[in-house]
Amino acid sequence: MRFDEIPAERGLPLLGHTVAWLQDPIGLPLALHRAHGDVFRHHIFFERPVIFAHPDALGAIFADEGQHLSTAAGWEPFFGRLMPGGLLLRDHADHRLHRGLMTAAFSGAAMEGYVRRMNERVPALLRAWRGGQLGATAAFRQVTLDLSSILFLGVEVGPQLTALSRGFEALVQGVAALVPWALPGTSIRRALEARARLVAYLRERIPQRRAEPSPDLFGQLCQARDEQGRAFSDDEVINHTLFLWTAAHDTTTGALVMAAYELAHRPRWQDRLRAELHQAGDDLVLARMGQLRETEWLIHEVLRLYPPIGSVPRRTLRPCEIAGVKLPASTPLRASILLAQRHPAFWSNPHDFDPERFSEERAEHRRHRHQFRPFGHGAHVCLGGRFAMLQLKCVLHHVLRSFRLSLPPGYALRLRPTPSFRPRDGLPLRIEPIAGSTP
Ligand code: HEM
Repeated sequence: MRFDEIPAERGLPLLGHTVAWLQDPIGLPLALHRAHGDVFRHHIFFERPVIFAHPDALGAIFADEGQHLSTAAGWEPFFGRLMPGGLLLRDHADHRLHRGLMTAAFSGAAMEGYVRRMNERVPALLRAWRGGQLGATAAFRQVTLDLSSILFLGVEVGPQLTALSRGFEALVQGVAALVPWALPGTSIRRALEARARLVAYLRERIPQRRAEPSPDLFGQLCQARDEQGRAFSDDEVINHTLFLWTAAHDTTTGALVMAAYELAHRPRWQDRLRAELHQAGDDLVLARMGQLRETEWLIHEVLRLYPPIGSVPRRTLRPCEIAGVKLPASTPLRASILLAQRHPAFWSNPHDFDPERFSEERAEHRRHRHQFRPFGHGAHVCLGGRFAMLQLKCVLHHVLRSFRLSLPPGYALRLRPTPSFRPRDGLPLRIEPIAGSTP
């Protein structure tokens, strides 16, 4: 297909589909897919990207065999100013070098330690939850913020943790900012100020972390060496720590809130998972987490329906062809994880919530290699995918064992798209403590 043959919709003058997407971030792409098929162009945030929905195209984009695509140029408009030097802002050989140096922080031994600490801390964090109604987004955000500060930075409770959490929260809001100019009072201005404080905080602590190894992610990056003995510079340690923290926090918060929403109006699924989680025992160790089969189906179904990163952006470096479509140099494009994961050719009743589709008997997710890619694939595949699954399982384990979840009668979900899919109203979640099972 030639570039000028790609079906295109312009939407409103100047704004294109930006407003329609903000109002209905799932309905709009689905409608465009239904209308135009697996490849189309639309107009959003002052760009006219080509959207690819077919798993074949996702596979080609993730593999990028001829190195025709830039991930850095794709993500630059989102992260460029706030997260310079993060892994998604690096391409090819430079990216490989940095990613290679980071892998020790995600090794099996490191994971073992993170799980032990999560399992100690989550019940303590949930003790702040009283029965009644809570804003689920704020409540889960607090859990993931505190957990990330503890696991990533090695900071324990106290005012320092609160200040750090606030700084990171401002940074995440800046990444999601719709107004790109750093005017006074804007979230981007607050994010840049928060970034400066976080950079100063980390810089001050690097000499000590270089001198004394510590198990947290920041400490691991300070100690990391490649085969030639090369270490990260101070600026690189800081940039990677900030990037990892941001990549981890918002995606897991979004997934937890959407899991709570789906579970809250399905008491039967809550009971099924509770039974499985009770069998796993109080002390959730890494070795036993793989046995939480039904919990894993449920998490996968949530990540399928509401992928925290709905599409991954790239930009062509030179004229090239992706899945039979000819693209000129410097074309913005998106591999739509959302559309592939709801593609009617690969999933039965693709918009229904049905965790059992992931069971061994049905294994719908194995119909195509790239139809289910919530963590991406290829050179930039999520570095924290395993960590994220462990964290989601651990938090759900403690929440479901301690509380019954429900929603106010007649509750109607409306989603917002940024930073990742989540309910517009923060989700009014009702929690009822289960007698004898306080966290
Ligand atoms: C449910 C949670 C998560 C989801 C759905 C998710 C999804 C993704 C996706 C789709 C990508 C690929 C982006 C691309 O190809 O352009 C990615 C990359 C990345 N993720 Fe995650 N992520 C999650 C949690 C985490 C966590 C917990 C961490 C860190 C502990 C993390 C760290 C990263 C990093 C560093 C990259 C960039 C890798 C590279 O460029 O080599 N993510 N993630």
